[in-house]
Amino acid sequence: MSSLFVRFLRHPGQVGAFCPSSRFLAVEMTKKIGMEDARTVVELGPGTGAITREIVPRLRKDARFLTVELDPGMAASLHAAFPRADVRCGSAAELPRILEDSGSPRADVILSGLPWAVFPPDLQDAILDGVISGLTPGGGFATFAYIQGVVLPAGIRFRRKLEQLFREVECSPVVWRNLPPAFVYRCRK
Ligand SMILES: C[S@@+](CC[C@H](N)C(=O)[O-])C[C@H]1O[C@@H](n2cnc3c(N)ncnc32)[C@H](O)[C@@H]1O
Repeated sequence: MSSLFVRFLRHPGQVGAFCPSSRFLAVEMTKKIGMEDARTVVELGPGTGAITREIVPRLRKDARFLTVELDPGMAASLHAAFPRADVRCGSAAELPRILEDSGSPRADVILSGLPWAVFPPDLQDAILDGVISGLTPGGGFATFAYIQGVVLPAGIRFRRKLEQLFREVECSPVVWRNLPPAFVYRCRK
């Protein structure tokens, strides 16, 4: 927690949250998204690994698991903590190139812990366009939003963008045991 908190104070526009997702939210992120069958799984913005920790035990034995983290220090810690993950240090906006370089140009499931609310619209769009082009047809994308943000213009815009890009967009129940409470958008290409 302290590590993310310190980084939040230093780079609020990159971190967007002062504490990691709870285990309850992390588990919700892994549900009903096709993890059991996925051969390639990607996590964007893993940070301290709160969601990574719930992804790893749910992976198929033969699945490839790629994480994309912007902060080099965080990427190094993740690499040490999660040997199962192929940790790439870079921006989620470069996802199509990162997937190509990894030898799996398409992912079956992409999970995101990125702080969308603090991103400018052009960065949101660039990342979401990369997510769509990096997913297999029928692939799943899950990301979370804090409940207080959904009525703000950025939250409304984000949801509209998801609805434009994906064939299906569903919301999970609110996860109250998270600070702040949040819900998961589950999207299908
Ligand atoms: C709020 S933290 C979330 C950490 C974790 N997923 C969780 O839910 O607790 C957001 C993380 O996204 C990373 N990040 C921010 N912008 C990014 C980008 N463009 N590409 C990849 N990672 C990014 C930050 O460095 C930070 O580690």
